[in-house]
This record gives sequence, structure tokens and C-alpha cells, in this order.
Amino acid sequence: MDYDDSPGAEDSPVSAGYLPSDGDIETGLRPTDLAGFIGQPRVREQLSLVLRGARARGGTPDHILLSGPPGLGKTSLAMIIAGELGTALRITSGPALERAGDLAAMLSNLVAGDVLFIDEIHRMARPAEEMLYLAMEDFRVDVVVGKGPGATSIPLEIAPFTLVGATTRSGALTGPLRDRFGFTGHMDFYEPDELLLIVQRSAQILGVDIDPDAAAEIAGRSRGTPRIANRLLRRVRDYAEVRADGWVTLAVARAALEVYDVDALGLDRLDRAVLSALVRGFGGGPVGVSTLAVAVGEESTTVEEVCEPFLVRAGMVARTPRGRVATAAAWSHLGLTPPPDLAFGALEVRGREPQPTLDLFDR
Ligand SMILES: Nc1ncnc2c1ncn2[C@@H]1O[C@H](COP(=O)(O)OP(=O)(O)OP(=O)(O)O)[C@@H](O)[C@H]1O
Ligand SMILES: [Mg+2]
Repeated sequence: MDYDDSPGAEDSPVSAGYLPSDGDIETGLRPTDLAGFIGQPRVREQLSLVLRGARARGGTPDHILLSGPPGLGKTSLAMIIAGELGTALRITSGPALERAGDLAAMLSNLVAGDVLFIDEIHRMARPAEEMLYLAMEDFRVDVVVGKGPGATSIPLEIAPFTLVGATTRSGALTGPLRDRFGFTGHMDFYEPDELLLIVQRSAQILGVDIDPDAAAEIAGRSRGTPRIANRLLRRVRDYAEVRADGWVTLAVARAALEVYDVDALGLDRLDRAVLSALVRGFGGGPVGVSTLAVAVGEESTTVEEVCEPFLVRAGMVARTPRGRVATAAAWSHLGLTPPPDLAFGALEVRGREPQPTLDLFDR
């Protein structure tokens, strides 16, 4: 699945991607050990076994792949892994490894036991990826010197290390690369009670006084994503300091989130515009994404990749072969009564006649 954010909606407070305004604060809010990492119980348990097993044997753990949508804690977990192993973490990213030489330089600087973190590993260039295969398997690389017939390949030993790869698109990883990871942790969206704990923990670190129901309100609007929860908390704190006495009550949290256009389910202005176009403009659909995008004045990739995944996950939009369809939940969320044929849910809608003129725009 494609979780990449595309340009256009990236400054929304509920975009899951990293925003420049998140800055150093994000670093300060990262959990530092496995025990302090909230949520993801399966990944945490599996990872703890992998790390403990390696520690007991006195070797380096298998290479680890972390996959999942943006903002769920992949980078944080990579840091925790190095911390738990008591080794150094070397950080790079797929797009930075354009040439095999870039990777060779990185690898030859590793000290035994180091953790090498490659973020967005699915975006690594092919030659670097091929070099990585050998490094992961045999802890050596072949560096090619020169070009053409005179080129020679010099084998280079590298220290045993653990690779931690992170990806928002595990489907984009090549088979050979995926196969070389001994363990893959699939990160999932967080439950509201886990996000509540995260908001409360962050509030404590930032020194924000917040009532439990206010923290729960922020958690509920965070789209299952800790990065969004932390960002909303900071926006609410601003509001509380400027417009109130600094203490975050439920009323303060709600008023602040209203100012930032984040509604009760965590939808922002664009999400609601899309829903409203679908429901009010096109009678609930089916309608194609490109038509919807024209209706809200956005790029269709933005609608498809930024808004739609969450609207689908929240059960408000269904993808059907004829186009996008609003579910009963979408009508209700906009304060409208769903048409009677929606009473049984989105699937019933598939039987409805398409609106022929609208399909002109569809892909
Ligand atoms: N389990 C957690 N407990 C507390 N805070 C968390 C947790 N997971 C993530 N966070 C917070 O969310 C923010 C984003 O996390 P992180 O950068 O690790 O996400 P990511 O999965 O690497 O995102 P991306 O795909 O954009 O790189 C961090 O500031 C971190 O403090
Ligand atoms: Mg990251």
C-alpha cells in the first residue's frame, strides 16, 4: 500500500508525515527503551525476543525490517534497538544512497555490533541495493574500481552489524532484499487508549497540565498516529497558553482543535471537503477520484493518497469498481440523513446505477 504523502496537504495538522515544524520536539518525545514504548504489543514482544536471543548468544541480531504508515514509530524503534543493544546507531536513508559508493563508505565505517538504520529503504538505488545483499549476508562488499575492461573488484570485509530498515511501502521492496531480513515488524495504527497514554506521557515531558478527558479528546482525533497526537497536543498547548490560563481542559482542547480545523474524528478541512463533494455534490457516488479532486480543487494524487486512505479506514468512503461511494457514516458525519438504500451499509450501494456523465473524468 502507498502511504506516501504528496504535496498540497502536507501542512495540515493531521498529516501523518513529518513536518518541519515538528523539529527537535519530536526527538525529545521519542521513547528511549522498549519498556517505555507504548502500543504495538506484538512488534514489541517479537523484537524483545530477537534482541534478547542475540544478547544471550553474544552475537548481532538478525537484520530487522520495520514497515508501516508514517508517524507510527519506526525511527523511534530503530533508536531503541541500538539503545537496547548498547551500540551506536548510524543513520542514513534510501534516497541518500544513490551510488554503490555511498553505501560502501557507510558500511566500511561500521564498528562491530553497530546498528545501521536505513530509512525509506524502498527508495534505495539499485546498485546500492545489490551491494547491500552481500553485506547483509556475508558482511563483505565488492568495491569496483575503474571502468570498462580494466575495472577490478576489490573485496572489502565489513564488521558484523545489524541492519534496521524502515519502509512505508513494504510492497515496493524487492524480493531479494525482503528475504534477507530475519525479522519484519509490521506496525499498525494505535488504539485510542494507547494514544491517550502517549498524549499523557508527552504532556508530562513538555510540562503541560492536561485533564484526562482533554487528553482522550486529542487521542481520539489523532488518526491512530502518535506523530499527529503529539502535534495536536502542541497546538492545543499554544491555545491554552494564549487564550486560557495554560491548563488544558476538555473545553480548551475542543476550542483549540476547532481553530485548527480538526474535527471530532480527526478529519481536516480537505477531508471534509472531499466528503461533502461526494455526498452533497454527487449524491453519495459512485464517482471517480479525479472528478472528486476537480470538485475540491486539489490534485487527484492528493485526494487519493492523503485523504482517501483515512476516509476508507474510518469507514466513510468505500472503493467500488464504479468509483468512490459515501457510506452511511459519511452522511451522518456531515449531519445528514443517509438515503434509505444505505441503511445496510456501503455494499448495498454497488447495485445503484452509476451517474453516466461523471465517468467521463474517471481513470
Ligand atoms: N509508541 C510510541 N510512544 C510514544 N511516542 C511515540 C510512539 N511512536 C511514535 N511516537 C512519537 O511519534 C513521533 C513520530 O515517530 P517516528 O519518527 O518514530 O515515526 P516513523 O514511523 O519513523 O515515521 P516516518 O515514516 O515518517 O519516518 C515521534 O516524535 C515519537 O515521539
Ligand atoms: Mg521515520
